[in-house]
Amino acid sequence: MKTAITEMFGIRHPIIQGGMHYVGLAELATAVSNAGGLGIITGLTQKTPELLAKEIARCRAMTDQPFGVNLTFLPTLSSPPYPEYIAAIIEGGVRIVETAGRSPEQYMPALKAAGIKVIHKCTSVRHSLKAERIGCDAVSVDGFECGGHPGEDDVPNMILLPRAADELKIPFVASGGMADARSLVASLAMGAAGMNMGTRFIATKEAPVHENVKQAIVAATELDTRLVMRPLRNTERVLKNTSVDRLLGIEREKGASLQFSDIHDQVAGVYPRIMIDGDMNAGAWSCGMVVGLIHDIPTVKELIDRIMAEAERLIRDRLLDLLGQDQMRGSKAA
Ligand SMILES: Cc1cc2nc3c(=O)[nH]c(=O)nc-3n(C[C@H](O)[C@H](O)[C@H](O)COP(=O)(O)O)c2cc1C
Repeated sequence: MKTAITEMFGIRHPIIQGGMHYVGLAELATAVSNAGGLGIITGLTQKTPELLAKEIARCRAMTDQPFGVNLTFLPTLSSPPYPEYIAAIIEGGVRIVETAGRSPEQYMPALKAAGIKVIHKCTSVRHSLKAERIGCDAVSVDGFECGGHPGEDDVPNMILLPRAADELKIPFVASGGMADARSLVASLAMGAAGMNMGTRFIATKEAPVHENVKQAIVAATELDTRLVMRPLRNTERVLKNTSVDRLLGIEREKGASLQFSDIHDQVAGVYPRIMIDGDMNAGAWSCGMVVGLIHDIPTVKELIDRIMAEAERLIRDRLLDLLGQDQMRGSKAA
């Protein structure tokens, strides 16, 4: 399947694995890239630019296919040394960067001068248009369903994707709620040039996380995610657990006076305890509503091959068939 995204990134299938804190390590990213998608390592999971350089080198040893690095611009006062992370990306010869969080505008000249393709993750049409204006090559449009930070507009992909298609000139991928061939074909129908998956890729054999995380995803339903940090305008969709219940209780109690420090214990530094130790109640961790569609733990290659084979069947057998029957009815009526 050829789309503007497969052409732009030099990949075989229009499937991207979005950056994920403590999940997007070399093992997962290279499994995705070797299976024909675009794997992405998560820049800030590496505590220093030097460690990111090492992770990039690890990827190089595990794949000869294109892969990317996610750079998340956090709403924190003490900002990580982004220029040094970007230098590590450029020196590592990485040609694709997924940016997220705040606008990447101030870093665009450096990224573009190095010939890097930038795909910016956006949760609204207005942010997507801004990304297009500042020179991003593509956008990843994240609907309200998505795991992680869905923004504050609450527009689901059934509306957001066609709206993006109506407004954007640069290609975009559909992100949030994507799990299978139905997601891909529907995204293409709504104008996307591919899809980005987060949560689905965690429940794969190669995802370098504790088995408890994968089992929690398989066991959960579409009713099991919650939105936290809404009062701080830093909304995050997470999987419900006892820590999230406590966090939501604090939010209710504090109301408009809620400060980040009130919920610090439930959200700060919890990823290693969840992803590495498998302590599933250690804190709030990002997870999409798409858990309701995830029932197995395949290899990344099995997952991607299955999606592409079923997408072809969906298009050929179901969609063309529908059209064929309509045409037959039309011709009989005539
Ligand atoms: C556990 C987890 C961690 C994530 N961490 C990041 C991150 O550090 N930076 C980022 O830009 N997006 C992050 N995301 C968002 C994903 O890249 C992707 O946009 C999102 O998962 C898509 O929605 P889905 O989970 O429904 O597929 C994370 C998502 C999950 C599930």
